[in-house]
Amino acid sequence: MRVAIIGSGPSGFYAAEALLKRTDTVVHVDVFDRLPTPYGLVRAGVAPDHQNIKAVPRVFAKTAARPSFRFLGNVRLGRDLTVEELHQHYHQIIYAVGNEADRRLGIPGEGVAGCTPATVFVGWYNGHPDYQQAQIDLSMPRVAVVGNGNVAMDAARILLRTPAELEKTDIAAHALEVLRASRVREVFVLGRRGPVQAAFTHIELKEFGELEAVDPVIDPHELADCGWSETGGNSAADKNLRILQTFAMQRPTGKEKKLHLRFLVSPTEVICDSAGRVSGLALERNRLETRAGGTIASGTGEIEVLDVGMVLPAIGFAAERIAGVPYDAKAMIIANEEGRVVDPVSRAVIGQEYVVGWARSGAQGLIGAHKAASARVVELMTADGIGLDGLELPEPEAIVSLLRGRGVQVVSFDDWKQLDEVEVDRGARRGAPRDKFVALSAMLEVLAQH
Ligand SMILES: Cc1cc2nc3c(=O)[nH]c(=O)nc-3n(C[C@H](O)[C@H](O)[C@H](O)COP(=O)(O)OP(=O)(O)OC[C@H]3O[C@@H](n4cnc5c(N)ncnc54)[C@H](O)[C@@H]3O)c2cc1C
Ligand SMILES: NC(=O)c1ccc[n+]([C@@H]2O[C@H](COP(=O)([O-])OP(=O)(O)OC[C@H]3O[C@@H](n4cnc5c(N)ncnc54)[C@H](OP(=O)(O)O)[C@@H]3O)[C@@H](O)[C@H]2O)c1
Repeated sequence: MRVAIIGSGPSGFYAAEALLKRTDTVVHVDVFDRLPTPYGLVRAGVAPDHQNIKAVPRVFAKTAARPSFRFLGNVRLGRDLTVEELHQHYHQIIYAVGNEADRRLGIPGEGVAGCTPATVFVGWYNGHPDYQQAQIDLSMPRVAVVGNGNVAMDAARILLRTPAELEKTDIAAHALEVLRASRVREVFVLGRRGPVQAAFTHIELKEFGELEAVDPVIDPHELADCGWSETGGNSAADKNLRILQTFAMQRPTGKEKKLHLRFLVSPTEVICDSAGRVSGLALERNRLETRAGGTIASGTGEIEVLDVGMVLPAIGFAAERIAGVPYDAKAMIIANEEGRVVDPVSRAVIGQEYVVGWARSGAQGLIGAHKAASARVVELMTADGIGLDGLELPEPEAIVSLLRGRGVQVVSFDDWKQLDEVEVDRGARRGAPRDKFVALSAMLEVLAQH
């Protein structure tokens, strides 16, 4: 059985592992990625100051070392290759393309300079080639981060860390330079619901009490009315609330920077100055209402304006549309039923196409969760595909020739290992785990020289 996996993030690699470990069928797996570098958000999303998480690819490299595995980097489905061509060269296709687009607040002023979605900010500091030209101006003292998830916490932490804390990480060199000169002193993290409903986890929250230059600040009143007693043993919320209480009771120690945690507020307008840059964020005070579907935030009509020069919405992600791949516009994911790709209207199953990871479920869940989730989809796929492996396909090299004929410089896993080595060497010079190449041209140039 020959299988094409599109996307080399955790879900794609775990699907490859599940396929290659099968003993009932001989499976050959080609993993494609639009970037020359593998590992998806482990490289381009996970925060640079969380290096322990960045060690996960050691497991993926073992999968890549299997003889029936190939990596075809720098190949974008929908641009360099069509779905139809994949069907001609493979028995089965698995989409593992993640959620690379932003969700929007849908409020006036959202598009102005200085209102920067989390994908852009995170991609910029992590050296994702798409965001190397992002204009990140940190000359203002105050920034608002909208959202109460872990991405909001990552963004706030990177804004507040000192250059000394950051330079020992693999943060992109261009971002380190801008952050060195940053004048940001206060970051407001804004939750539309209360602390009990916050999606961030206690480990990320607790870290703010341990940063070199940051005092976390929270108004005790925000916690007094939050309905903590209603958590009913929900340990995730209990752990957060205990930390928030500690923060609320602490006196600021006079550290240079502040993290303000605010709850029950929704942005209603990004306000800009005469130069068209962010000069404030209008917020509506919310109250919580319990409905059949859960606890929701409902506006009270009471408005305040927060004096900030930058707004970072970190309110979730959506899958990009790819030509020829069925898209569920409501859920903003690839249309599927438990991983089988379906027609978005009729919901009829489309044969030989599967989806794993965030492209299947939306942007929720940690890296480790993809192992079992991708394996479940592989189970479905192999059961559905019985008998397909007898079908004749072109030689495995044919897909590479097709791409090269189109002028695509296909990057192999050995090529990536060379890039990896050079990045690690460059990083050692600044005492960092790696110094990433950011421009695609620079990556391909290094490979051409080796
Ligand atoms: C900012 C951030 C920080 C995070 N930090 C953590 C953390 O600390 N710990 C943790 O456990 N989880 C963390 N997560 C969650 C974790 O990263 C995700 O659960 C996981 O990466 C999702 O895996 P995936 O394979 O679905 O998608 P991704 O990791 O996004 O991989 C998708 C891959 O598909 C490729 N691709 C996309 N389109 C195409 C195309 N058309 N053709 C070819 N290739 C394509 C992309 O280049 C990418 O490599 C974080 C997420 C974010 C956003
Ligand atoms: N360190 C880590 O382990 C780490 C780091 C980053 C990401 N991740 C994981 O990656 C996944 C995605 O993280 P995420 O932070 O992007 O998503 P998330 O956990 O879903 O959080 C999104 C936040 O945005 C809020 N929101 C959504 N729409 C909004 C709107 N219109 N106005 C105001 N607020 C709005 C949500 O509030 P409501 O709850 O009210 O909808 C929620 O607080 C999560 O599973 C996360 O744990 C993990």
